[in-house]
Parts: sequence; structure tokens; C-alpha cells
Amino acid sequence: MNEHCAACQNTFVPQFAFQVAVVAGARHYFCKLECRRQGLGDASFGRQRRARRIAVLNQKGGTGKTTTAINLAAGLAERGYETLLLDLDAQGNVGISLGVRGEFTIYHLLTGAETAPGHTATPDDVLVPLRGNLDVITSDATLAAGEVYLARLDDARDRVLTDRMAQLRGRYQFVVLDCGPSLSLLNQNALCYADEVMIPVSCDYLALVGVKQVMKTIKDIDRHLNHTVRIAGVVPTFYDGRTRLGREAFETLQGYFKERLYEPIRRSTRLAEAPSHRQTIFEYAPESAGAEDYRRLVDRFIASAQVERATPATPPPIPPEASAVQTAEMTTRIA
Ligand SMILES: Nc1ncnc2c1ncn2[C@@H]1O[C@H](COP(=O)(O)OP(=O)(O)O)[C@@H](O)[C@H]1O
Ligand SMILES: [Mg+2]
Repeated sequence: MNEHCAACQNTFVPQFAFQVAVVAGARHYFCKLECRRQGLGDASFGRQRRARRIAVLNQKGGTGKTTTAINLAAGLAERGYETLLLDLDAQGNVGISLGVRGEFTIYHLLTGAETAPGHTATPDDVLVPLRGNLDVITSDATLAAGEVYLARLDDARDRVLTDRMAQLRGRYQFVVLDCGPSLSLLNQNALCYADEVMIPVSCDYLALVGVKQVMKTIKDIDRHLNHTVRIAGVVPTFYDGRTRLGREAFETLQGYFKERLYEPIRRSTRLAEAPSHRQTIFEYAPESAGAEDYRRLVDRFIASAQVERATPATPPPIPPEASAVQTAEMTTRIA
């Protein structure tokens, strides 16, 4: 299982106890003794810890991915966490829904385009401070060309996002990725970069097929790239408890995902209206059912993050294969 060195950013497989350190309940990895000394000796180390990266993903369109990504990110920012919301879908719905249009987009960052003569795009060139603790990297139709760019690369074509984002290390506590509905290289990049995925599933039958596809994708990525992606949760969306279809879909999801299933997000007109007002649900209708449901989702997500960070003070011995240490009940390695 690959980890990133907290000092030099190298990717490596931890094999020795000195390569793991737990600081303020968070686990950090160092590839060399020198990196460990340098990293832990740095007074700002605690603040430099790695962001928790979550991809909101389902290969099916219209399952509430963008709505969930926006309101999860907004909810985290509202609670005081430095949060970055990154749009990886060429439809560009994050920027459209929040009324923000960056001069440069994720396309420029991914392809290493010039944002000034002789200057290759950096994360700072493309991110837009939105409000409070929330920054956004937008996307638009040019991202389709980003997919072509990735396809032409000879190797490491699924790690481009991870490499380009490395400069942001320590800036954010959470990075939320809104993914497009496909099996694209862009989504493979998202899964390579992310620690975990949140899967919104609309409460109808076809969505379940989509979930199975997502599970397969993650499993493939896990196997081919030696990268563990955890399921943070499956979120039932467009839930209508008054219809039999809604209730049955929810029960099926419950049977399938058990404790990984979040409370449902109800179908709500306010949620559908918020984007046309360029607002999050917390801004547009803070008292609505939609705001209530997403607040609950954010609380649960934060709580799961805290469970995970509350790892033992002494790291357990690393098994021979040095597989990821799975701590919280919610962080199930996908079998
Ligand atoms: N719980 C909900 N109730 C009502 N409308 C919703 C809900 N969630 C999302 N929508 C609306 O449904 C449409 C599709 O949602 P969206 O989040 O864009 O899905 P995706 O990103 O998966 O394609 C959007 O118009 C959105 O505003
Ligand atoms: Mg979307």
C-alpha cells in the first residue's frame, strides 16, 4: 500500500516502524529517517498535515453528486474547516451552481497549460476563494480536452492530478472532488488522489446497478494501482418515503451497505432551486428539509473523520505486506 512521505512527497510503501508517526492523533508517513527528522522537527508540522480527500462519485448521471459535493464542502467550511471543492466534471456544474467562474480551470492545472508567458499553471493560479473557508477549482467543457491529454501520456496518466495538487499540501483540511458520471481517466485520477469515496445513489432501481459498477471500478483501481480507496459512505438521494419505490430502494441499499449507508437526503424542491440562486442549501434555505439532511450528512462525515484520526498513540506493527492500517469501522477496505 503506497503512502506519501510527509516531508518530501515521495510515494513509497512503509515497511519499518520509524516510517510511521502519530501526531495529534493523525498518522504521518516518512520514507527516510532524514525526512522523519526534518518533518517532525518542523514547528508547523501539525498544521501541515495532509488534507482528507473525498471523491463524490457514481458512474450514473443525476444521482445528486454535484449537490452532495457542494453541500458537503460548504458544510465543512461553515464549521470552520479549510475546504477546497474541486470540479472534475466537464459540465462545470459546481461553478454554475455557485455563481463562480475562474479565469483558469482544472483543465489548465491538469495539462500544465501556461497561465502567463513561460509560467505553467499551479494550483494557486486556478483556485478561486469563494467565501469563508471555502475555495473552489472550477471546470468547463475544455476539460474534455484534458481527458484527451491524459490519454496521450505514456505512463502515470492516472497520477497527474495527485502530482499537480502536491503543492497545496497543508493548505486544506478537506478536499472534496465532484466527479463526472463516467469511467474516464479523469475519474481514475480522482480515485488515485482520493482517500475515500462518497457514493450518492438515487432511490430507484437503476441506481443500484451504478453502485455495483462503482464498486468494481474501485476494486480495479485498488488492484492495479496499489492504492486503497475507502468507502466513506453511500448516500441515498431523492428519497421519498411516501412512495413504495422509495422505501424499497432504501431498504435494498440498507441490506447492501449496512453501516456504510448514510441517512437519506429527501427529495426537496429547495435543493433543486438553490443552484439557480447560485447558493448552497445552507444559504438559500437554511431551515429546509434539504439543509437539515445535508447538515446531518456533514456531521456524520466529520464524526467519521474524527474516529479515524483518533488512532492509538503508538502505531501498531506494520504487517509484512505493509497494507494500510484500517482503523475506523467506516473505513472498510473494499474486498
Ligand atoms: N434531494 C434532491 N431533491 C430534489 N432535487 C435534487 C436533489 N438532489 C439534487 N437535485 C437536483 O437534481 C439534479 C441532478 O442533481 P446533481 O447533483 O446535479 O446530480 P449529478 O451531479 O449526479 O448529475 C439537479 O438539478 C439538482 O439540483
Ligand atoms: Mg454533477
